[in-house]
Amino acid sequence: MLSNHYFDKVMGEFVVKAIEVEGLNYYYPNSKNGVVDIGFSIKAGEKVGFMGPNGSGKTTLLLHLNGIIAMNKKVKIFNKEVNKKNIRFIRKNVGLIFQNADYQLFSLSVYDDIAYGPKNLGWDDEKVDNAVKTALKQVDMEGFEKRFPQNLSIGEKKRIAIATVLSMDPKVLVLDEPTSSLDPQGRRDLINLLKTFKDKTIIIASHDLELIDELCNRVVHMNKGKIESIDN
Ligand SMILES: Nc1ncnc2c1ncn2[C@@H]1O[C@H](COP(=O)(O)OP(=O)(O)O)[C@@H](O)[C@H]1O
Ligand SMILES: [Mg+2]
Repeated sequence: MLSNHYFDKVMGEFVVKAIEVEGLNYYYPNSKNGVVDIGFSIKAGEKVGFMGPNGSGKTTLLLHLNGIIAMNKKVKIFNKEVNKKNIRFIRKNVGLIFQNADYQLFSLSVYDDIAYGPKNLGWDDEKVDNAVKTALKQVDMEGFEKRFPQNLSIGEKKRIAIATVLSMDPKVLVLDEPTSSLDPQGRRDLINLLKTFKDKTIIIASHDLELIDELCNRVVHMNKGKIESIDN
């Protein structure tokens, strides 16, 4: 019997729920700040924006989606609770791109950074190599394999950061303020790039109205750690 939380029956068709959060609370240690009673559900393939003032809890929420900040069973990805048992599935399928690309790039070469995730999944060398090449192609950065990540421009770093998760072929992409440090051309290129990921479920926290408007079919508004409203 299929769980109602996983499938929604819409117009006679079953719709897969990619993300389901119900009653999620998190407070930073020794702090009153965090996220409070968060609940929402996102169907596979949806593109959803999270907006709200600085400190409203967007990043804290996003970091729960693949168990980075804490593994919390109130968060489900394709009906799997974010817990220790499922964490491999979760990390493979929820590709989180940090606001600051430097947090994502720590190897001596672009190749090694993009190969890191696939290697951790235990894929053999050939499969890893194919994954790296495919990911570089997806972000239009072929030929950058041997470059030192720290010497790239901010726009290039952002693309490589995206490639480091694309290489695992995640079903969900989570991006925290992806355009915040880009120049106008880099920002436009990034928006156009994100539009190419049609099959993926995409979650974006951003203040960039144009990005949200062009890419997202729904917007969740946050304030003071809570969801204030959800626009459809
Ligand atoms: N590492 C931390 N320790 C303590 N408090 C934090 C930490 N990170 C964020 N906060 C607090 O949690 C709240 C939510 O922050 P955050 O999720 O970063 O919001 P946003 O991404 O919307 O700007 C804020 O009040 C912020 O000050
Ligand atoms: Mg933030």
